[in-house]
Amino acid sequence: MLLKDSSLIAVRDVESLRRRVQAWRRDNLSIALVPTMGALHKGHITLMDRAKKMADRVIATIFVNPKQFGPREDFAAYPRQENADFELLNAAGVDLLFAPDVPAMYPQGFATSVHVSGVSDVLDGVARPGHFDGVATVVTKLLLQALPDIALFGEKDYQQLAVIRRFVADLNIPVDIIQVPTVRDPDGLAMSSRNAYLTPAERAIAPGIYAAISLAARQIAAGEDIAQTLAAAKTTLTQQGFGTIDYVDARHAETLQPLTSRDEPGRILAAVHLGRARLIDNVAIPK
Ligand code: PAF
Repeated sequence: MLLKDSSLIAVRDVESLRRRVQAWRRDNLSIALVPTMGALHKGHITLMDRAKKMADRVIATIFVNPKQFGPREDFAAYPRQENADFELLNAAGVDLLFAPDVPAMYPQGFATSVHVSGVSDVLDGVARPGHFDGVATVVTKLLLQALPDIALFGEKDYQQLAVIRRFVADLNIPVDIIQVPTVRDPDGLAMSSRNAYLTPAERAIAPGIYAAISLAARQIAAGEDIAQTLAAAKTTLTQQGFGTIDYVDARHAETLQPLTSRDEPGRILAAVHLGRARLIDNVAIPK
């Protein structure tokens, strides 16, 4: 257990985490879990603030999960800033930080993978094969390690939320999943640890994603043709200087299957490359 000069306690092993949780349970305290991969920004702090309002004790986790990165993705380069994160969590009033290393999370012989069919098989499930198995496996472990009453996740990772809701229901994990709206910079760019990869020129272009999908959502709500609207959004992004577009798509907000009617709850989701960064964002299609 690491103890620093602060009220935040940091632990790196499951036994220390469980001891602390059991003590809180004996005192009848409710517990919120906020899983993260660190490199914390205002979006994460919004999750912590919401967690504090909803539960007596808040556990944040920091674990850059190798299982959710593909072989050509940015696992090694992913920003890591544990001391700064510790200070931010302490200032946010978080009670406990669980920051295991890879062998603590996946000990020698680890052989289990959680796969969620359907919602995992589209969009990022196609663009990043295996990504959601890695997410589902680590989040299942974190939920079972901490056994919180609630766990909070940002809406920016909309498909991740759908995957988590599905396995939590399917596996009867006794936790309420709380969806927290995306936090944006004033120009609309969704906050993300990966925004750190953007050069100043790319950062100036990046808000174009939110602008394009917001416009497309309004146009589809107004009755314009879905396929044409999405094609126009992609053309705009390309003209603005974005790189490969993995998808800009209109989906059913719960199943993430292609939207077939405007009567269904709809969501526009996008994943677009810009320099070293792969940016994702999503918005609701207004009714
Ligand atoms: O959204 C994230 O930061 C990660 O996917 C999560 C949920 C912490 C699992 O590693």
